[in-house]
Amino acid sequence: MSYHSYQIRSREQYDLAYKKSIEDPEGFWADVASNFQWQRRWEKTLEWNFEEPKVRWFSGGQLNITENCLDRHLAERGDQPAIVWEPNNPEEDYRVLSYKELHFKVCQFANVLKNNGLKKGDRVCIYMPMIPELAIAVLACARIGVIHSVVFGGFSAQSIADRIQDAQCCLVITADGAHRGNKEIPLKAVIDDALVQCPSVRKVIVLTRTRVPVSMIKGRDSWWEDEIRKVETQGNPACTAEVMDAEDMLFILYTSGSTGKPKGVVHTCGGYMVFTNYSFVNVFQYQPGDVYFCTADIGWITGHSYIVYGPLSAGATTLMFEGIPTWPDAGRFWEIVDKFKVNILYTAPTAIRSLMGFGLDFVKNKDLSSLRVLGTVGEPINEEAWHWYDENIGKGRCPIVDTWWQTETGGILISNLAGITPAKPAHATLPLPGVQPILVDEKGEELKGNSISGNLCIKFPWPSIIRTTYGDHERCRQAYFATYPGLYFTGDGALRDEEGNYRITGRVDDVLNVSGHRIGTAEVENAINMHTGVVESAVVGYPHEIKGQGIYAYVVYNGGSHEMSLVSKDVVQTVSRIIGPIAKPDKIQFVSGLPKTRSGKIMRRILRKIAEGELENLGDTSTLLDPAVVEEIKKGKL
Ligand code: PRX
Repeated sequence: MSYHSYQIRSREQYDLAYKKSIEDPEGFWADVASNFQWQRRWEKTLEWNFEEPKVRWFSGGQLNITENCLDRHLAERGDQPAIVWEPNNPEEDYRVLSYKELHFKVCQFANVLKNNGLKKGDRVCIYMPMIPELAIAVLACARIGVIHSVVFGGFSAQSIADRIQDAQCCLVITADGAHRGNKEIPLKAVIDDALVQCPSVRKVIVLTRTRVPVSMIKGRDSWWEDEIRKVETQGNPACTAEVMDAEDMLFILYTSGSTGKPKGVVHTCGGYMVFTNYSFVNVFQYQPGDVYFCTADIGWITGHSYIVYGPLSAGATTLMFEGIPTWPDAGRFWEIVDKFKVNILYTAPTAIRSLMGFGLDFVKNKDLSSLRVLGTVGEPINEEAWHWYDENIGKGRCPIVDTWWQTETGGILISNLAGITPAKPAHATLPLPGVQPILVDEKGEELKGNSISGNLCIKFPWPSIIRTTYGDHERCRQAYFATYPGLYFTGDGALRDEEGNYRITGRVDDVLNVSGHRIGTAEVENAINMHTGVVESAVVGYPHEIKGQGIYAYVVYNGGSHEMSLVSKDVVQTVSRIIGPIAKPDKIQFVSGLPKTRSGKIMRRILRKIAEGELENLGDTSTLLDPAVVEEIKKGKL
């Protein structure tokens, strides 16, 4: 038996698989899904309409994703490394957890959660460093049907509180602190601040990592290690996997949109498992024994799908890295590749651009010959970065997969398959089997043929499509299914070249992509407006050499006579408090007013152009309430 029978190994097989997936999507996905361990087979492969929207894959099927990620590998590869972990500090020992060990630890921690009264359907917030216990916590939740909501370590107490309240989490799993480069992040202190506003949380489990002093509140907080000891004394290390319906919720992951607070994107058990596994095996062409290294954080969808669930369900060895690419120096990624003989490396354009800037000295003395496949994700990759990656890291012999997808899509939708379908610099290229992209114009008319650009939509469900936004289904409909009725709208613009390859050009809505992180302009504006003295603000993106996009804020301030350079720093600090350091504006320009139409709408198009340095050809400004303000803004451009 081959390792993964549904792994596409040639261009012809891709064409055939794609054709079958379009002609008979249900038959196609039923075949793929048959390769997994189900406790009960599904009755109906797919039910859907994009109007409500309602999408159900593998209804009636029962499974537990952790049995597919862990138990089913034990007989054949129980001793194979499941997780290889490289600490922030290269002097500290790395860790290797075999499938057997990971299975044991997941069951053990699942028992900890059960001891604390958790049961299927409860929500747990996880705010942890990139250490194996983060993956263990995630899988332990899935083991007993508890819905995890992982929050990235770069979010503030306020952001965590918003997410905990929205999901009504009853338990938080965190650590005392996190190491990131030469910094320490006081995770538990941030959680303590967040919990002031979160009455739903009755328990906090704290893992020891940095051993920074933390407050431990009686009756609420307890140490991870003590909880484990308690389970050990109870004797039975096993934990039966909870029976989950294919459409039961697996997790919530919050992401920014163009309006309001972040939305809780909901993924369910069956379809998410099938698609993350299928896309992992095919895009990266994973082979038995390969060491696969995804540099993302588990706080983002990339980490959920392609550090944890995709690779583990495929029986892969997944490498987790706690630190940052530039510490102790800019050779860290290459050192890790060399140290663990990494075969597949998946990272972000922003990391590549940043490392490019440090020059080749950090690459030169590293042995990168183990590499076979390179990947990128999160934002459009510019050609210069693509070629640098290709020549200096892949040495011209590793296919680069440019993988386009979103938190809402759960897995990779458009990408070349490494070495199987051709790469094209800066192009995500072709849809995966089962994915039916189309381009539409402003009115929603399909743009047929090639050499064309438009708004990117998907016209048919794939197994890991977003099911709802937690607690507010209407919001899900509005955000993704209402703009173009009958279609899932991605929010991205794209062009299709003469050969049918897609190139994603970036967001067409008010969402920024800063270092591959999605940030809503409205969210940043709301945070800025909370600063005393700020009357209003408008936030736009501008091209940034390393981050891809930087955050440019126009701020109307009447807080009295202060040193404006200090006010500017205060505003940044406010954003950091309200959202987190990742949303800090790069530039703040104080203005006396914003360009508005007579009906009071801010003309963002003009502000965007000015921020991009395009001071001429601002288009029609005659409809502006006060055209003079544009001249003032142009003069003051930073
Ligand atoms: O604009 C697209 C961009 O990232 C957005 C999704 O962000 P998020 O949900 O945070 O997920 C990031 C990781 C999957 C998309 O709407 N994006 C993602 N991948 C690419 C990309 N843009 C261009 N090329 C890509 N490969």
